[in-house]
Amino acid sequence: MAPRFIWSCILVSLLHLAASVTANGSRWALLQPSIGVSAMHMQLLHNDHVIIFDRTDFGLSNISLPAGNCRDDPRDQALQHDCSAHSVDYDVVSNSFRPLTILTDTWCSSATVAPDGRIIQTGGFNDGERAVRIFDPCCDGSNCDWVENPSALASRRWYATNQILPDGRAIIIGGRRQFNYEFYPKFSDEGIFKLPFLSQTHDPEENNLYPFVHLNVDGNLFVFANNRAILLDYRAVKVMRSYPVMPEGDPRNYPSSGSSVLLPLSPAADEAEVLVCGGAPKGSYISASKNRVFVTASSTCGRIKITDESPEWQMETMPVSRVMGDMVLLPTGAEVLIINGAGAGTAGWELGSNPVLTPVIYQPDGPPGYRFTLQKPSTIPRLYHSTAIMLRDGRVLVGGSNPHVGYNFSSVQYPTELSLEAFSPDYLDQKASDRRPQIDTEGSTIELAYGCEFALSFTASELRNESVTVTMLAPAFATHSFSMNQRLLILASKAAMSGGESRYCVTVTAPPSGMVAPPGYYMVFVVNEGVPSDGAWVRLR
Ligand SMILES: *[C@@H]1O[C@H](CO)[C@@H](O)[C@H](O)[C@H]1NC(C)=O
Ligand SMILES: *[C@@H]1O[C@H](CO)[C@@H](O)[C@H](O)[C@H]1NC(C)=O
Ligand SMILES: *[C@@H]1O[C@H](CO)[C@@H](O)[C@H](O)[C@H]1NC(C)=O
Ligand SMILES: *[C@@H]1O[C@H](CO)[C@@H](O)[C@H](O)[C@H]1NC(C)=O
Repeated sequence: MAPRFIWSCILVSLLHLAASVTANGSRWALLQPSIGVSAMHMQLLHNDHVIIFDRTDFGLSNISLPAGNCRDDPRDQALQHDCSAHSVDYDVVSNSFRPLTILTDTWCSSATVAPDGRIIQTGGFNDGERAVRIFDPCCDGSNCDWVENPSALASRRWYATNQILPDGRAIIIGGRRQFNYEFYPKFSDEGIFKLPFLSQTHDPEENNLYPFVHLNVDGNLFVFANNRAILLDYRAVKVMRSYPVMPEGDPRNYPSSGSSVLLPLSPAADEAEVLVCGGAPKGSYISASKNRVFVTASSTCGRIKITDESPEWQMETMPVSRVMGDMVLLPTGAEVLIINGAGAGTAGWELGSNPVLTPVIYQPDGPPGYRFTLQKPSTIPRLYHSTAIMLRDGRVLVGGSNPHVGYNFSSVQYPTELSLEAFSPDYLDQKASDRRPQIDTEGSTIELAYGCEFALSFTASELRNESVTVTMLAPAFATHSFSMNQRLLILASKAAMSGGESRYCVTVTAPPSGMVAPPGYYMVFVVNEGVPSDGAWVRLR
């Protein structure tokens, strides 16, 4: 008996150890102490600028509108005459920013990037609820700004989710009390389409806002709301498949905000898996808002193969409980970062506590029970209204956090955060520099056609295996713990050929169709033994 007992004890402690391994090559850097606005929404564009915006009816921000402009809005609930800006353009390379002009209210809105690279940003609150706002990174000059159409949508869209489609249009799904979807741009006489699944998943706490939407490789949409999902043929307005309720039954969408990603797609792109992590147990929102009792957040992730006829959820336990986390696909194609958020409570004003400062990396192909690795903790709590996105250089840009009705820097436990930080996974550690490939693009965008081969030349001082991995990542729109349009493809590639003097060339095949990868701008990375190059911008069409 005794030896067996000891053996099982050792096993348990080994498992425990494995679950809490710390990758201490990761690090944090403060990029800007204040960009003047709190980063509620972020989108990287193909000029390496990040478009950042908050809501417009918070009162004053900490940055002025360009050229001494002011905004007069009799419908604004906080400040009818406002000379402060609520959006900025952050230039990653020079680490600088300038104010932009948004006039209609972007509170809890959504976006996609069109195939031509413009951000198409939709909805919000009050005078912004039907607005479409466009920012064109290709516009000439240093004073390019938002162009707004306040009445371009058929319905109000507040807490809706957008997804770019194979034809390059955006679908806009749901929003508060909107159990339907619409498209932008629209075909003539197209209106709204009913989606009863959204009313079926609406509970007394809502818990179905900002649904998690992923474009499946068969062209249908996976839509997750509250604690379950469907596969939607949005053209036929038909539910193709109903997935089982996620075990435990806890809600995962706003205000019980968990997060979700489509896991990296393999070169064959014939299967797809979705991962949903964190959230809050049912009743947490009412408990926090009515009784000020903050329930411990969910510690589980559910994983499901959405291309299977009748798949089951596989549940896994994270090393830390987390609500309002952000999930970011790392360019290695083998890792998902879970960052930001709280250990208790829910999304909403003053409803979160116990900031989770420690990011976690999940390795989808790791052995079960050994997939999570703790990362170096930050020092800045990032609670409600915080965001995280991948940059082209492999760093993760982290910003926002404002759990208050307005900007509040004093007499509060978690002051409004105007800072920007970068989290660097350990592939950016000095120790990895010999392995880091460098793609030669001469700074220009590579044009890709569906299904065609293309060549990437790169250098690497240490390449022990010519079988490098080539990945392609769509820059995502991050808000409220969900990154819309986030998509990573592992591309088919041949063994790299050596050209001598640390020079190599790899032949890669572009994705086969818009269902696998909608048209537009992506970042392509060469990955050598887990170390990605800087990305190269490509345009797929
Ligand atoms: C990194 O982790 C190793 C192993 O746990 C430890 O020995 C080392 O001191 C750590 N280094 C830093 C900088 O924390
Ligand atoms: C923002 O402006 C307010 C009012 O001027 C000031 O008290 C506060 O310190 C500023 N915060 C930051 C982070 O710049
Ligand atoms: C900040 O929050 C505190 C505590 O709720 C409140 O007393 C104060 O008025 C708030 N300040 C602003 C500028 O809203
Ligand atoms: C090189 O990498 C490929 C793909 O990961 C692997 O199958 C192969 O065994 C590796 N070869 C060597 C020599 O490590």
